Formats: sequence, structure tokens, C-alpha cells
Amino acid sequence: MKDKPQFLCNNCGAIHTKWAGKCDSCNNWNCIEESSAVTGIGSRPNLKINIGKEISLTSLCGDIEELPRFKTNITELDRVTGGGFVPGSAILLGGDPGIGKSTLLTQTCDALNKQNFTVIYVSGEESIAQIRLRSQRLNILKSNVRLAAETNVENIIATLSKIDNIDLVIIDSIQTLWSDLVESAPGTVTQVRASVQEMIRFAKNTNTTTILVGHVTKEGQIAGPRVVEHMVDTVLYFEGDKSHHYRILRTIKNRFGPTDEIGVFEMTSIGLQPVENPSLMFLNYRTENAPGAAVFAGIEGSRPILVEVQTLVAPSSLGMPRRSVVGWDTNRLSMILAVLSSYCNMRLNNHDIYLNIAGGYKTNDPGLDLAAAAALISSVSSKTLPAENIYIGEVSLSGTIRPTSLLPQRIKEAHKLGFKHAIVSENSKDLPKLENFRYSKYKDLNELMKDIIGHENLKQQNYRKENR
Ligand code: TYD
Ligand code: MG
Repeated sequence: MKDKPQFLCNNCGAIHTKWAGKCDSCNNWNCIEESSAVTGIGSRPNLKINIGKEISLTSLCGDIEELPRFKTNITELDRVTGGGFVPGSAILLGGDPGIGKSTLLTQTCDALNKQNFTVIYVSGEESIAQIRLRSQRLNILKSNVRLAAETNVENIIATLSKIDNIDLVIIDSIQTLWSDLVESAPGTVTQVRASVQEMIRFAKNTNTTTILVGHVTKEGQIAGPRVVEHMVDTVLYFEGDKSHHYRILRTIKNRFGPTDEIGVFEMTSIGLQPVENPSLMFLNYRTENAPGAAVFAGIEGSRPILVEVQTLVAPSSLGMPRRSVVGWDTNRLSMILAVLSSYCNMRLNNHDIYLNIAGGYKTNDPGLDLAAAAALISSVSSKTLPAENIYIGEVSLSGTIRPTSLLPQRIKEAHKLGFKHAIVSENSKDLPKLENFRYSKYKDLNELMKDIIGHENLKQQNYRKENR
């Protein structure tokens, strides 16, 4: 029977029966292409019929061996992988082009090489000269890393098979790989999947750790890392704002360690440097004497990170005042404004509002609500918040302040950095007793407002009269 033509999404790998401009499963545009081979999700290999042999079944209880691991000694990378690479594991490192994936991996090669591990770096994107140029910049030219510029999977595997005891193979990137076994062009879902599958099979058979680099593509012109996420053991994403120096390495999936862990790096002129205390970096150049700024202790994975929330409330001349948010959720700001308006009588319908998380940091932590509310109240009333204060709490639609998760960790980090006063929900439990540190427990935003503006001043607020 002749195979019907199929349509594959280059971004997520979903199969469609007919062509469409937009993929229903990932909502990306212009990413569906015709593919003659039946190789999408749900297809089966065209093998001879196998009668099957019996396999032995076993029980859940039994001895568990501790996983052997090898560390790179790049602290932030080891933290994200859960204490080092596991031999034989396949790791996908995704991220936007130019974010620093190749730089991180070149430094990893050097760090492992210093410990006498055998590392092979296969680049399909850059020539050997370009890689050498980067190594020169990173000052690691003397490293004994073995390089190759190749894109054909069969050639790569044939080469690797000849070398004994390889500890780590780096393939940069999966989108340039192609296999003789598949007809499609490099960069298509079919090619990327088949090539990655071959690389993973090699990794498992020879117990070689393999790192596969994948570019994230917004346009969906070439297959993105999402199509291979399910095949690998660990998925790491390298994120950051190119206009800022810091980069965050985030675990999305890890079969051998915790997920939600992050590593923070700073991109410098001599490569990526681990940042052991990210809070210090984000609180740099803090605006301590200006109204409209509040500090919040967020959590990334298991790690507290202190950031400054800056707001500006200014009278607007626009019919529809501006709401501009950088690093946080716009809907969340709208919610806080609605609560302030309904329960605290603070109406800002005629004001432009800007909210910015300093340093280009992005967060979805609901515990930031209280800090955002405090910063807004401070900006409206022109009352500077004390520099020793830290605000942590979620605000509900009724204006009450709810406690947040992992509060002790957040408070301890704030204490470590010299903060002396935490404003939290009245229902917060297990607050650590720390030297020279006090708490204010508030029930709702009205109490917070009284604290910031002062009880008497609250009655005379001009903006309230204006907006009534
Ligand atoms: P690169 O690792 O090539 O990105 P990717 O592999 O994710 O596409 O990083 C490229 C950027 O990093 C480039 O804009 C230059 C910058 N960079 C530095 O700032 N310092 C350095 O030491 C290096 C090697 C790169
Ligand atoms: Mg690169």
C-alpha cells in the first residue's frame, strides 16, 4: 500500500493529516511541512514481524546502586546536573542562538580535561578555526580536548567507536546533524529525531555521556529541541537576556537528579563565570533612597534569590493609561491594581504604571505580589520604603495576604544579606528566630498601606480625593 503523505510540525513533532498554517499542538505558525516517510510520533519502524521472546519480570524492591557521577568542578553546572554527569546519560542543552551554549561547553571540556577525562567536541556549526579562536579568548588553548567539525552521524559514530574510554561527547548542534538512513534535509524533524536517536543509542551502548546542543527557534523553520526532549535523560535550558550579562541554566527534566534547579553565570570577556551569590548581583546599584522600590526574596528551585521590584506611577495624558511590565506577569499587576482599587481605595485609573524587576531577571513567583503592592503604594505616596525591609507574600483577590512556600529559606537569605525586617502574612508559620531580625505580620493590604503611609496621612491622601 502506498503511504499517504504526512505533515509534520517542525517545532513539536506533531503529525497532521493535512497542511495548515498553524500547528494545533504548539500554536506555532509556518512550521508544518510535508513528509513522505512515516516517522512521526506514533509511527512504528518498518521491521520484519517479530514473534517475540519472553522477558523476565522482577519486583520493585531490590538493591539500588548509587549512581557513579563525574563532576566538572564548575560549581553552578554541577548543581544543575544534580552533582555531576552520570556516565551513559544523554543531556540536551537548549537555548537561544548566541546565548552562550558553545562557550559553556568549551569551558566544560577544559574543566574535565584538567581532571584527565577524555572529551570529544564535535561541531557542525563552526569551523575548527572558529572554535580555536573561542578557546583563545577563553584562554584554554593548551587543553587537550579533541575536536572535529562534522555533521554526518554515521561518520561521527564510526570515529568515536575507534577511541577507547571516551567520557564525554559534545554534539553542537543537533540541528546540523544528518543521517544516511533518512532522506529528509538536515534540520527537519525527521532528520533531527533519527540522528539524535542514533547518538543516544551509541551513548547507551558505550556508556558515554553525551551532550546534545539544540537551538530554540521561535519561527519553527528548523526543528526545535522540544522534538527530542522525551528521548534524553536530562534537559537543560540556558536562558538570559542578551542585553544583560547574567545567564541562568535551568533543569527542565532530570532522570538522575532534582528538577527546578538553577545555575547562575555571568558572561564576561573571558567566558562564563559562575555566580555563587546571585542575590548580591541582582541587588547591585539598589535605589535605596527613592520611593517605588521594594525588595523581594524569590525562590528558584531550592535557591533563594533576592530581587528589587521597581515601580513608577505617573499621571497619564492617555485615554487608556499605559501598563508596562518587565520581568513579571502583566495580569498579576492588573490584579494587584484591582485589589488596591477595591479594598484600599487607591484608584490609579488615570495613571501610567511601570513595573520592572531590576537586572533583567524574570519571575512568576506569586510571593512577589506583596512587594509589588508595597512598591506601588510607595510610589503613589512618595514615601521611601526602609532599605532594611523585605516583602514576601501572595495577595488574594479579597486583599488578604497569604503566606508563601519555603519562607524560612527566603528569610535566611535576606538576613544573610543584611536585611533586618520582613513583612509577611499574619498566617506565616515556622518563621526562623534570627539575631537582629524582626517581623511585621499583616492581615491585608490595608494594614500594609497604613504601615507605609501612616494612619493620619492616609485620611488626607490627595489622590483619593481626586479620583473619587
Ligand atoms: P556562543 O557560546 O557562541 O553562543 P551559542 O553557542 O549559544 O550560540 O556565545 C556567543 C556570545 O557570547 C557572543 O555574542 C559573544 C559572547 N562571548 C562573550 O561575551 N565572552 C566570551 O568569552 C565568549 C567566548 C563569548
Ligand atoms: Mg554555538
